Amino acid sequence: MSKIKKIRGFQDIYGENAKKYRYIVETARKIFEKYNFEEIILPFVEDISLFVRSVGEETDIVQKEMYVFTDRGGRQVALRPEGTASTVRAYIEEKMYAEGGYKKLFYEGAMFRYERPQAGRYRQFHQIGAEIFGISSPLADAQLIKMVKDILDSLNIQTTLEINTLGSFEDRKNYIKALKEYLNKYKENLCETCNVRIETNPLRVLDCKVESCKDITKEAPKITDFISEESLTRFEKIKDYLKALNVPFVENPRLVRGLDYYTDTVFEFTTDKLGAQNTVAAGGRYDKLVEQLGGPATPALGFAAGIERLMLLVENLPTEKPLISVISIADEFNIEALKLADALRKKELKVENIMKEGSLKSKMKLANKIGSKYVIFVSEKYELKNMETGEQEIFENKEDLIDILKDKF
Ligand code: HAM
Repeated sequence: MSKIKKIRGFQDIYGENAKKYRYIVETARKIFEKYNFEEIILPFVEDISLFVRSVGEETDIVQKEMYVFTDRGGRQVALRPEGTASTVRAYIEEKMYAEGGYKKLFYEGAMFRYERPQAGRYRQFHQIGAEIFGISSPLADAQLIKMVKDILDSLNIQTTLEINTLGSFEDRKNYIKALKEYLNKYKENLCETCNVRIETNPLRVLDCKVESCKDITKEAPKITDFISEESLTRFEKIKDYLKALNVPFVENPRLVRGLDYYTDTVFEFTTDKLGAQNTVAAGGRYDKLVEQLGGPATPALGFAAGIERLMLLVENLPTEKPLISVISIADEFNIEALKLADALRKKELKVENIMKEGSLKSKMKLANKIGSKYVIFVSEKYELKNMETGEQEIFENKEDLIDILKDKF
């Protein structure tokens, strides 16, 4: 019979990779909590129009990457391609704005985009992310960026922070007009995709990786020349705060991001270790989105990081507790072995009760194979063996053995 395989672009995360996944999420979670963020657990499926109206009708995500289907009730739904839109929907729907003050939320989980799979790019991937609602001060931008840096630092991941400002939607409209005029002059030398994008999403031409396009956009009008005094002042403040917090950054006037909802600040943390998929975390402000989705006018900002990309960059996992295996040397000691394993686990130790039947030798072999650092042979007494040094110690009394192991690890 033919074997059923996983779907292209989807992954099984297990073994060492699953440990990395959990380590990343736990590390981020601790930092989110230090910064006083609360968790939100969001649905995987949303009404398709949520993403069309937020991420943007002309973006790649909405145009060609969403997993869209009609559910059995005839609703047009999509698997979430990102977490910001759902968080905004929840903020409005659950009337979180009514609590007053501002709201700081974080999330973790799977996202789905029908992209061409390659190293660091999958169709189901996972993000950790956070969003802040109800605060327009540039202090929030700087602190959010610092929090992302703290997460990356805790994971010992080296990155470059790139920042830019996109101004208001009004500023951008003027800029796009000038950019279009400029790009239209060089149409023949731009790649096919960029030719389409001049009309649909001209900002993305600035992102193009094709050399001839890059040459043309080098001389293109700069967004910073179209941005209001207010936005520029805000950007200056953010830069000052980042300097004060010792967060190094480079300004990248070509950084535009692939989602439409951004206003003012945008940023990306990139690495030179992942080839083309070099952005590990990214985000920015989206001061108009809450209102656009039917909520009260609410400034907001956030970020998300790709867990799989972080997994490719995390090198050392923290040391784990050693595995202790309990072996009953004959059937009559099985119950005592069960009880001992139970008592050790109550002391937070990591214990395998060797369940294999057969000779002592075969049980020992199995204990070795699964990586036991210690083995305890249970008979009328308890014999503790260090598998690395071969040292052995005999205990008449179970409590003494438990105490020693508990204190050791
Ligand atoms: P994004 O840039 O689309 O932004 O995604 C954020 C991060 O998710 C990327 O930098 C990357 O690390 C990871 N990522 C994206 N697509 C894939 C993929 N196909 N495979 C693996 N990893 C991927 C957002 O999603 C925004 N919601 C961020 C945000 C939050 N902005 C404001 N608040």
